[in-house]
Amino acid sequence: MPIKIQVCADAQEVARIAAGKLIEQVRDKPETVLGLATGSTPEQTYFEITRLAEGEDVSFRRVSSYNMDEYRGLAGSHPQSYRYYMQEKLFKHLDIKPENTHLLDGRAKDCAAECAAFEARIRAGGGIDLWLLGIGTNGHIAFNEPGSSFECRTRLVDLSKETIAANSDGRFFKDPAEVPRQALTVGIATIFDARKIVLLATGEKKAAAIAAAVEGPRTQDLPASRLQEHPDCLFLLDPAAASKLTRRA
Ligand code: PGA
Repeated sequence: MPIKIQVCADAQEVARIAAGKLIEQVRDKPETVLGLATGSTPEQTYFEITRLAEGEDVSFRRVSSYNMDEYRGLAGSHPQSYRYYMQEKLFKHLDIKPENTHLLDGRAKDCAAECAAFEARIRAGGGIDLWLLGIGTNGHIAFNEPGSSFECRTRLVDLSKETIAANSDGRFFKDPAEVPRQALTVGIATIFDARKIVLLATGEKKAAAIAAAVEGPRTQDLPASRLQEHPDCLFLLDPAAASKLTRRA
């Protein structure tokens, strides 16, 4: 199945539609298992989810979630950790049970054991129903940087220079020296196993990666191109992120 593309009017509409899909998923299957992303792109989506869940009285009591990645060395209480981000932007506004929100432990002593246990927990929980994804300017998904094998699973990785630069532009860290050099991340195969994938991208900076992922060759140099073979993958884009696609009507 080729990647489905939906170009929205603007970033707000991307967030509203993504949130609507996630809420619909939870309504249809109250024990949904979600895969979740961090970063700037999903922030507005998380805001919309909390608004919709409250307005439409949708409960997350039976939902469980797994996040894609966590910086190596950061405790969950660190304001730049992804545990902190998820807590502030989403979890504390929903009735999801804390014990059902799974993130990799960036301070695990034995990273290999932590990663293997995370994969096992996802499998034991029945697998991911819907994975909400972002994309890096270099085409990464989660922290699977260009060159990562399509078969890779949860593991410790080195961050690329582009990713360190992108995350120290003032939105998160102020200085590249503050950005951890490593992270624990789910693999491309872990993401690919999800029954449904919804990838969000907004802004001109993502346009080249989106065009390469959708229209370019399937190659490990562009991790998101793996999604071309996924049976149920939707890209929700704003016009700027879609601007380099050439095959649209
Ligand atoms: P961003 O990150 O949403 O902050 O642009 C996306 C990503 O790197 O996957």
